[in-house]
Amino acid sequence: GTAARNGEPRRGGPADSPFVRACRREPGPHTPVWFMRQAGRSLPEYREIRANVPMLESCRRPELVTEITLQPVRRHGVDAAILFSDIVVPVAAAGVDLDIVPGTGPVVAEPVRTAADVERISPIGRDDVSYVDEAVRRLVVELGDTPLIGFAGAPFTLASYLVEGGPSRTHAKTKALMYGDPDLWHALCARLAEVTLAFLQVQIDAGVSAVQLFDSWAGALSEADYRRFVLPHSTYVLGGLGAGVPRIHFGVGTGELLGAMGEAGADVVGVDWRTPLDVATGRIGPDKAVQGNLDPTVLLAPWPVVEAEVRRIVEQGRAAPGHVFNLGHGVLPETDPEVLTRVVALVHELTARPER
Ligand code: CP3
Repeated sequence: GTAARNGEPRRGGPADSPFVRACRREPGPHTPVWFMRQAGRSLPEYREIRANVPMLESCRRPELVTEITLQPVRRHGVDAAILFSDIVVPVAAAGVDLDIVPGTGPVVAEPVRTAADVERISPIGRDDVSYVDEAVRRLVVELGDTPLIGFAGAPFTLASYLVEGGPSRTHAKTKALMYGDPDLWHALCARLAEVTLAFLQVQIDAGVSAVQLFDSWAGALSEADYRRFVLPHSTYVLGGLGAGVPRIHFGVGTGELLGAMGEAGADVVGVDWRTPLDVATGRIGPDKAVQGNLDPTVLLAPWPVVEAEVRRIVEQGRAAPGHVFNLGHGVLPETDPEVLTRVVALVHELTARPER
């Protein structure tokens, strides 16, 4: 690209990439593609490098984070990298005793039940997550024009792990706290919002080109409860970041929440496979882009099935003012990585636009 002139933004570089352009609802050379959980167990090179390193420890080694983050970019030619980390990394940095158990997910030693438990969650700054700062700085250099996405967990999804003590299908203890002691609930979410905002700010200061706020389990709530118990906290995070880099807001099973999730301050709303992208666009409105929404299990089907679904999603995505192609949730470990590579090439081919 050419250097900045007369205060114009620099041409080329990640801020001018197809991914960032789509997030900003600007035309680009093709619809960009990346996959949630693109770095992970579907890749043999990931399984090899992770063989003797526990998950949380791997997130704290910048050279390992850099290599794992780059693996899917090299292999698939995706339009964006996502930082290799986990939503519980900042919570651990805030002093919560937890681990990530293989095959299970995050497990918290002493689940949050009282105001004293909430107060033990400390504020964090760059020094508490210096390994993330360092990894992002290395990656920005290595990636060149390919944008790096930073991320964090949203207050509801983090609160669920902290209150349940681990993964939950019903989020029963979480909802019991929310309905039974709204003041304690809001105090917990306010703490988590501070941690999340600080964690995302570290990543932005280190040079990420976009951020994604994962509220993976928000779809467990009605729209009314989402608006009352969750939206103010997620709005605090997304609003606190400002509009410097695009903000993506994602959850699973959020068909009824898509409008509210956009209102939280997102530039892009992530959509799972249950809601067609043209329908989602009607709910989200014309001033936000959408991201999604291939069912990750479709990748396990024969190629003609995958191809037909990719074509349908690309067509329905044309209704949106900007479309970032992705899955509706993370890549399953049993996915054949060659299918992911073919999906990237197919989306690029189907959406190629002549340079203007
Ligand atoms: O997307 C990427 O490639 C970036 C890496 C990433 C991880 N976790 C790495 C990881 C991201 C974006 C996350 C976010 C995350 N972590 C979410 C939100 C996204 C979503 O899936 O909804 C959630 C809910 C978590 C909590 C968590 N951490 C779960 C449910 C698991 C899976 C448990 C398992 O073993 O099946 C983890 C562990 C985890 N985080 C793994 C990876 C690659 C698997 C650990 C391993 O490889 O041993």
